[in-house]
Formats: sequence, C-alpha cells, structure tokens
Amino acid sequence: MIDLPPLRLPDAAVTFVGAGPGSARHLTLGAFQALQAADVVIHDRLVGPEVLALIPSRARLIDVGKEGFGPSTAQDHINTVLVAEAQAGARVVRLKGGDSGVFGRLDEEIEALEAAGLTFAILPGLTSATVAAAEIGQSLTRRGRNASFRIVTGHDMAGFAEQDWRGMARPGEVTAVYMGKKSARFLQGRLMMHAAAPDTAVTLVENVSRQDQRILAATLATLPEAAQALDGPAVILYGLAPREASAALSALKEARA
Ligand SMILES: C[S@@+](CC[C@H](N)C(=O)[O-])C[C@H]1O[C@@H](n2cnc3c(N)ncnc32)[C@H](O)[C@@H]1O
Repeated sequence: MIDLPPLRLPDAAVTFVGAGPGSARHLTLGAFQALQAADVVIHDRLVGPEVLALIPSRARLIDVGKEGFGPSTAQDHINTVLVAEAQAGARVVRLKGGDSGVFGRLDEEIEALEAAGLTFAILPGLTSATVAAAEIGQSLTRRGRNASFRIVTGHDMAGFAEQDWRGMARPGEVTAVYMGKKSARFLQGRLMMHAAAPDTAVTLVENVSRQDQRILAATLATLPEAAQALDGPAVILYGLAPREASAALSALKEARA
C-alpha cells in the first residue's frame, strides 16, 4: 500500500466533480480528495450510495436530485443553492453522476457562477458509457471496425432526439444512447429506416457498476422489448454485444451466410 499523494485541489469556490456511474472503484483519486476536503456537497440522484458513503460526516449533504430533464425552475433552484453556498464561503463540491460534462447541464451551472463572479473548477468522472462497455468486455472503438463512436441522448427538450441516423446505421458503428429507454422504439424505427440490419447487436446495461447492475443482450429487432424490462438508469450500447454473446452472434451469422 502506498500513501496517497498530497492534496493539490483546485483553488475554486465550486468544484464540479464527476462521481462515475456508481461504484466507489470508479471514482477518481482527485474526486475522492475533493470530497474529503468539502464543507458542502450538492449532489444529484444518480450519485451512487457507495460514493456518498465516502463523504466525511462533517460535510453537509444537499440532495438536489431530479428526474430526467426536469422543468427549468428545478435547475434555477440548483443554481441558486450553488451560488448561495459558495457566497457563504463554504468549500463547495457539486457532485454529479458519471461525468459532469456529459448530459450534466454543466454549462448552466457554470454560467450561474460566472454571473455571480464566482470561480469554478472541473474534475471529470467516468461516464456511464465507458464503464458499461468495460462491463461487457468490449472496446468502444476497434481498428478496422469503427474509427469513432457516438454518445447521444434518446430525448431532448423537444422530445425524441433526432440524430445522424444514416451514420449510426452504417455497419460497424457504435453509439451509446443515454436516456434512451422511452425512445427505444423510435430509435429502432429510425435506424431501420436507414437500412440498419435488424440483427445488429444492442446491449442494455442498467445500473452500471452498481450491485444491481444488469446486462441485457438484444438486437435492434428486440430493442423495444428489452428496454421495457428496465427499471433503473441504463445505457444502450448500439453496435456492441457482450463478448461471449458477440462470438455466438458471429457464429450464427456465419451459419446463415
Ligand atoms: C442526465 S444523464 C447523466 C449522464 C452522466 N453525466 C454520465 O456521464 O454518465 C442520465 C442518463 O445517463 C445514463 N446513466 C447515468 N448513470 C448511469 C448508471 N449508473 N447506469 C446506467 N446508466 C446511467 C442513463 O442513460 C441515464 O438516463
């Protein structure tokens, strides 16, 4: 066992900290240290209990969790709390699930701090897609298969989100869909409209890295049914199968050819 390096925390009124998808083993060392030094931790619903348990009891916890894309008043309230705590001189950590910069409404909170003349720093976290891919034993990119991958949302403020369906539907492409449970049938329809193969592998990873993590191996044809079976937050990995199922699927395709 080695001693932890000395604390070199950002000198900012508010530090945005990415908590990772849930398990303590996916928290960065910087995030851990920032939590140890915090007076106040303002956290979201998606921050896992294992991470919350690492916060010293002397720090005050403020839960500002809200469901999905909540109404803007909820975000205004979060901004107000953030600014008020920082102005009161507390060392504030704003703790968000995964990476704060991925569908985390980070800019809105930064703009509120800037408007109040407050400084901020960002400590990124592991986003759920990278951990989900690791949990199914797959790489998000692969030489000769895909030279890029997408992170998209299933819905935005206008409803189901439109994407570059033609690009996504090309064989070998990989896309991680966040907030995609309700839009699963829409995704399926759009991708098939752009000639995606119905047997394209799709893996749904629910509660990534947590005790209750579930991995559902599906295909584009079965995606809506698989999504209906989910209760918790999930990432849809379009174009990837869990490693063993991947081998079985390839064998099936070869047998059919
Ligand atoms: C508002 S976004 C936040 C994303 C987060 N900032 C990140 O980097 O993972 C919420 C969506 O992220 C995904 N998500 C977040 N945490 C997750 C987890 N532990 N397991 C599975 N999906 C998760 C789900 O798609 C969920 O609907």
